[in-house]
Amino acid sequence: MQVPDNSNIVIFGASGDLNYRKLIPALYHLYVTGQLPDSFFILGVSRTEFSDESFRASLQGELVGLERIEPEPFSRFLEHVYYLAINTSDEHEFGKLKQRLLELYEKYQAPHNTLYYLATPPSLFGVIPKCLAAHELNKETEGWKRLIVEKPIGYDFESAVALDDQLHQYFREDQLYRIDHYLGKETVQNLLVFRFANGMFEPLWNRHYIDYVEITSAEFIGVEDRGGYYDGSGALRDMFQNHLLQVLAMVAMEPPAAINADATRDEVVKVLESLRPLSADDLKQDLVLGQYTESTVRGEYLPGYREEKGVAKDSRTETYIGLKLFINNSRWNGVPFYVRTGKRLPTRVTEVVIHFSPTPHPVFSQHAPSNKLIIRIQPDEGIVMKFGLKTPGAGFEAEEVAMDFRYQDLGETKLLSAYERLLLDALNGDATLFARSDAVLACWKFVQPILEFKEDPRALYGYACGTWGPKEAGALVERDNRAWRYPCKNLTNTHYCEL
Ligand code: BG6
Repeated sequence: MQVPDNSNIVIFGASGDLNYRKLIPALYHLYVTGQLPDSFFILGVSRTEFSDESFRASLQGELVGLERIEPEPFSRFLEHVYYLAINTSDEHEFGKLKQRLLELYEKYQAPHNTLYYLATPPSLFGVIPKCLAAHELNKETEGWKRLIVEKPIGYDFESAVALDDQLHQYFREDQLYRIDHYLGKETVQNLLVFRFANGMFEPLWNRHYIDYVEITSAEFIGVEDRGGYYDGSGALRDMFQNHLLQVLAMVAMEPPAAINADATRDEVVKVLESLRPLSADDLKQDLVLGQYTESTVRGEYLPGYREEKGVAKDSRTETYIGLKLFINNSRWNGVPFYVRTGKRLPTRVTEVVIHFSPTPHPVFSQHAPSNKLIIRIQPDEGIVMKFGLKTPGAGFEAEEVAMDFRYQDLGETKLLSAYERLLLDALNGDATLFARSDAVLACWKFVQPILEFKEDPRALYGYACGTWGPKEAGALVERDNRAWRYPCKNLTNTHYCEL
């Protein structure tokens, strides 16, 4: 892994949850493993009043003891961390930011290379770049300037275009890093290596040999304390429009001419732009939206979605979405992709299942097991190939067996967390694993008819917490004589999730 040139990080929204839970731990782990530059500072910026010292003390109080954070190296790391309290929506206040940055560049004798991170509410995504530009903090005269933008990038197609225009007024596309933490996951990146580095799979990866593809991202947790945000978002905006469509692009894209930001993202966009637009009939037949209802799971009472804090009592927000979709290109024409995600499902699991077509002439048995490749994104990361083997003994019955690889077998190798990998890439100027503007807009364009259809009051089914979503979601696949894979049938133990 390349160590970045001397550079600095400014985190807007520094007093918020994302910074405490993800960004500081990720930066700390990069620091203790020697992956940050020799000279760097991190400046946290938000409205909450803190001095440098009290901010450091607060981070220490919250984080030491968690996530392999040891007191002594964490104190050394915190010497690089500073804080500035300003009103981040007031252009004039950015004069103070400029002043503080100049002092820190001077103190560190550092180039002005700076990565800005928008870990703020989305209402500030358009405002902060404008304020930075008003003080020429976007100018690259004495070092590069890059901007990481968190999700949600827009609320629908129109607002995503508007945000894009705002960002592009002050930053060039090659300065913009739209983060999708699923692209930071080792197992998602491995989809490219697995597909394009293995001659035994790539020739089969198309409509001639693949019957259907499943993409599942299940969570056992509910909306927790994020009801206020989630109720205005739903599973479609929270997970599907971004994370799942990005994973789908990695599964379905053509090989890029090279692994770099332009070539890889060109292929991602092509596949997203080839998604077959959803017609009114498709929405009626191939889309299932659900909302969880109260239930007792493994002895624990779980409230229904409408009972959650911050959620409207008559909310029609979906916590589950299942969709059958198609890709209109010569590799995938006619192959259904069944994609589902939901909260309060039986367990936490994300996986891609490739179902290969049966042999054209089933000589041995009508019921020979089908061939499947299960790519487990999380947890218990790994890959399993399932195929038929002759049942020992007389006759020619076939039974299903498996060959597997698990990341845990790599022993000591430590996988970088998604935020570690993505922060490092942004510091190194590598945007390959960040969503490009045209890809984000292609995703919104595809989901826009679903957003409009959600207004239709018929379109929401209940499902009890701890089940695999509404029964209509099962029917979505079964009526095509296919089936979802249910990796965790045994509801008595959350950790049981067969790979
Ligand atoms: C976030 C969503 O982007 O992804 C959350 O806002 C969701 O609602 C989370 O829980 C899932 O991420 P992961 O990495 O735990 O699968």
